[in-house]
Amino acid sequence: MSDSQRKPARGRFRSQEWFDAPEHIDLAALYLERFMNYGLTPQELRSGRPIIGFAQSGSDLNPCNRIHLELAKRTREGIRDAGGICIEFPTHPIFENCRRPTAAIDRNLAYLGLVEILHGYPIDAVVLTTGCDKTTPSGIMAASTVDIPAIVLSGGPMLDGWHEGQLVGSGTIIWQARRKLAAGEINEEQFYDMACASAPSAGHCNTMGTASTMNAVAEALGLSLPGCAAIPAPYRERAQMAYETGRRIVEMAYEDLKPSDILSPASFRNAMAVVAAIGGSTNAQPHLVAMARHAGLDITADDWRAVYPTPLIVNCQPAGKYLGERFHRAGGVPAVQAELLAASMLDGSAKTVTGRSVAESIAGRVSVDREVITTVAEPLRSNAGFMVLTGNLFDFAIMKTSVIGDDFRHRYLEQPGREGVFESRAIVFESPDDYHARRNDPQLAIDEDCLLVMRGAGPLGWPGSAEVVNMQPPDALLQRGVMSLPTLGDGRQSGTSDSPSILNAAPEAAAGGGLAWLQTGDRVRIDLNTGRCDALVDEAEIARRKAALPPFPVPASQSPWQELYRKTVGQLNRGAVIEEALKYRQIGKTTPR
Ligand code: FES
Ligand code: MG
Repeated sequence: MSDSQRKPARGRFRSQEWFDAPEHIDLAALYLERFMNYGLTPQELRSGRPIIGFAQSGSDLNPCNRIHLELAKRTREGIRDAGGICIEFPTHPIFENCRRPTAAIDRNLAYLGLVEILHGYPIDAVVLTTGCDKTTPSGIMAASTVDIPAIVLSGGPMLDGWHEGQLVGSGTIIWQARRKLAAGEINEEQFYDMACASAPSAGHCNTMGTASTMNAVAEALGLSLPGCAAIPAPYRERAQMAYETGRRIVEMAYEDLKPSDILSPASFRNAMAVVAAIGGSTNAQPHLVAMARHAGLDITADDWRAVYPTPLIVNCQPAGKYLGERFHRAGGVPAVQAELLAASMLDGSAKTVTGRSVAESIAGRVSVDREVITTVAEPLRSNAGFMVLTGNLFDFAIMKTSVIGDDFRHRYLEQPGREGVFESRAIVFESPDDYHARRNDPQLAIDEDCLLVMRGAGPLGWPGSAEVVNMQPPDALLQRGVMSLPTLGDGRQSGTSDSPSILNAAPEAAAGGGLAWLQTGDRVRIDLNTGRCDALVDEAEIARRKAALPPFPVPASQSPWQELYRKTVGQLNRGAVIEEALKYRQIGKTTPR
């Protein structure tokens, strides 16, 4: 069909309100003329073809997403071939590993910026370019608020890292190497060598950390083409996927296929099941809640409990052995979805950007490497969802049980007669800085009986919520071979960490949560059978301590956004979204004045 015969399902594209409004010819001319200065023609912009935004998240400051500077070319070609016009623009950069005080504070900022761009400019549909952790949820949150057709193009992970014949994965190698460094097994130069070996090419983290998890989530939600998430950045299939994504978003613009047509309770349940099956990052919890709430939906503690029995079927670091290349070659996300679908653990009727159901979109996709993607019948581990905990210290926290190692299991969870239950002496740190200052302090007498507790690390306390709860034991313990202690905190941890921490505790101490009154020396009882975590402190003593508590000390905000962020952010169990933003829904339906 020629362009002149094709009609958008919504009658008229919203960009025509800018470029083709006879009653405002002076404004239309102003809108048009400056796009001429790089060679577009008025005929193109007034042709009634859709304007497709390419939300460019790659830059020198976001190396994880930098591949999108290359992929833009193939995406534009796809957009042109399908009859659209591409306009590329930058998003606020978010580089997980480098941004201080934490990249988490930028998720809501990038969200705000993208909402304003998509609403305030003549854009009919958008390609969301994703990769590094928060670039995925910020884009999807914004696309839901505006609700114009949107498709996710992942940048893909780096190639697998190798060091001295061993696979070395992003982040995970840091947590392993820092234990070796503390135990005196390697020197600083070897430490840097191992870290750098994990980054052999363009792309985002190659472990099943937060980046790979969130890109898998986008695909499982139905927001990217099947197979998009896992293709390594340098592979030729990545550029081919960019081209196909460009073609598809033009069709979606004509069909007016919006996030609100795709995102549903079923698509979120599907994404939660995929997170469990891949052994995904605990950061998926706040991000999924945030995306659901901006889509007008919700995810409750009971929803997480319902997904908990989903088995681990993907053998990738940090829960398993392999990295991104093997995962992609084994079949990637569609192969995982196929296994879950066959076991009735996925709703195959949920819709996707293909315009078809999940089941139709992944038909014929199977795991071709059972070492990496196994079956629900023979999983690597059962019950791989996030365990939800509650108790007198917090209303909500989660634990990633799929990374519990043999050592931790034997020491804490397999005591005869009380399996899954342990008690520890709390060592309370006031902040990540306090932990680093005191973790080797002999006066704390930290031993195997201790629970390391971090407070002051949540959205208000840090601010932004820091990835710090995976605290390592003091050097003296590491040197004795005690490689991990139980940990608890109101911050987060890196998705690449193999620590079974109790984290994302809400409300945080700085918001009046129970961690504020916990004292070093208190005993804490954790029961994984019932999902309880309680300080063994009686009610009267808790009341006395609460009454005597001064306001929780938080460091001063260091920038305007830090102050605004603290004024607007909610807690991690509610997605740490800008609560005031939630009332703005589907604002792309109206053109701005
Ligand atoms: Fe950017 Fe991991 S630091 S993807
Ligand atoms: Mg991280």
